[in-house]
Amino acid sequence: MIRKCLFPAAGYGTRFLPATKAMPKEMMPILDEPLIQYGVEESLAAGMNQIAIVTGRSKRAIEDHFDISYELEHQISGTEKEKRLVSIRNLIDKCTFSYTRQLETKGLGHAILTGETLIGDEAFGVILADDLCVGDPDPVMSQMVSLYKKRPACIIAIEEVPMAEVHKYGVIDGEDMGDGVYRVNAMVEKPSADEAPGNLAIIGRYILTPEIFDTLRNTEAGKGGELQITDALHTLAKQGKVFALKFSGRRFDCGSIDGFVEATNYFFSKSKE
Ligand code: UTP
Repeated sequence: MIRKCLFPAAGYGTRFLPATKAMPKEMMPILDEPLIQYGVEESLAAGMNQIAIVTGRSKRAIEDHFDISYELEHQISGTEKEKRLVSIRNLIDKCTFSYTRQLETKGLGHAILTGETLIGDEAFGVILADDLCVGDPDPVMSQMVSLYKKRPACIIAIEEVPMAEVHKYGVIDGEDMGDGVYRVNAMVEKPSADEAPGNLAIIGRYILTPEIFDTLRNTEAGKGGELQITDALHTLAKQGKVFALKFSGRRFDCGSIDGFVEATNYFFSKSKE
């Protein structure tokens, strides 16, 4: 049973400047819900109700979002508007939230290592809230938990991307075991199309075993001078400890303007159905 889910949310979101100058990227809304709320809903649906968030400067809005707003709630209490708070109240009731700060943005691997204090010695989920996923039929993290139950190792979610885009992702080399599951042999962070072992790209969903923390501690800074989770997972993959799942559903890269607009259009048309 995996109870904890880590949300690394300390990045600067530079692709969305100036919107993200004072506002966390994770608080940008798709319709009326901020990205991170979709992520917490996915985590809860997968049975992970202990939410651990790695934040940084100018991210306080995230903490306020997962808290009660007394004045506002008092003001709209008993009115029609109150029902607009049902979804967030449900999360606040069912989940606990803990926070730690990454003092310097030294990469996703470093952010995950910073979260160790909130996770301890147990397997945990990781959700990058700017990758908004719509699972079909189950949410993507739930699909990953089902695989973890059969193969209790690190699980990463992957999808096929055009070769021209592999340089934006971590890419895996693996052995196809059927049903969308791969045993991962190697992983490369942001390879050029020539260097890439294929076009199976890692997206922002992971289940990690606590062994990842020591592995990260022993991993050197990689691409861009940042501590890369892909490099640490590569070490574990060589020991046969990483599986990848080609999930069923859709992912929107809401860290980019194109993906954000696509997600908005998708959820808007769904809301009208
Ligand atoms: P990204 O590279 O997509 O996010 O990192 P970013 O750096 O915020 O965005 P851009 O590229 O400047 O627009 C993936 C995830 O890892 C987190 C980010 O918050 C995001 O959720 N992250 C990244 C950290 O928490 N700390 C880091 O040092 C780096």
